[in-house]
Amino acid sequence: MTKYALRKITIAIDGYSSCGKSTLAKAMARELGYIYVDSGAMYRAITLNFIRQHVDISNQEEVNNALQDIHIHFQKDKEGNNHMILNEEDVEAEIRQMQVSSMVSQVAAIPQVRRVLVEQQRKMGQQKGIVMDGRDIGTVVFPDAELKIFLTASPEIRAIRRYQELLNKNQDTSLMEVRTNLAMRDRIDSTREDSPLRQANDAIVIDNTYLNEAEQLQKALDYALTLIET
Ligand code: DC
Repeated sequence: MTKYALRKITIAIDGYSSCGKSTLAKAMARELGYIYVDSGAMYRAITLNFIRQHVDISNQEEVNNALQDIHIHFQKDKEGNNHMILNEEDVEAEIRQMQVSSMVSQVAAIPQVRRVLVEQQRKMGQQKGIVMDGRDIGTVVFPDAELKIFLTASPEIRAIRRYQELLNKNQDTSLMEVRTNLAMRDRIDSTREDSPLRQANDAIVIDNTYLNEAEQLQKALDYALTLIET
């Protein structure tokens, strides 16, 4: 229990790729004693499975059949970090690799995939006390969320941060490759027909281009605490 665990609300954090949504969501959940769900990891796990099984994503029947054999859930490690488990296998590291990043937006645009995952995400949020980040959390998954945050940062800053993150994980990539991947995902995610990325009308915008992690957390917590304490 934390000092803030007074009233449980639902917190939705949306935004473009690599603008720090997971960092913020994780920190808010820790401060508030809430559950944290990285919905992008779920789309990534499905994508990894499709790549491994050579699923033709333009074939609806193949996609439906593949989805029936996929079971995903999160499991905490000793440090309390969530790991994505795909059919009993820990795929947390593999889903972050460029091979998955370059396919995930195409897979996330498939309506059957979204239907399955949105249902699972809503179940996770039934008891409230949850921070979930993604692209459609405030608009589709939890349209009634008490707090919706739309996070933004300049494309260049996002690419540099992401590149740094991949370098720290010893992944072989270039800033140019990261920049191109982010631009492609932003375009596909915001122009797809089913649940495109957009700012919910009642979302609060936080631009973190010039904010550090502590500053952005404080800003977001201030909004959350106003709601929780009233
Ligand atoms: O947050 P992320 O970069 O790990 O997400 C990976 C991809 O999954 C992203 O390019 C779009 C998709 N996604 C989505 O369509 N809806 C969500 N709620 C979360 C992610």
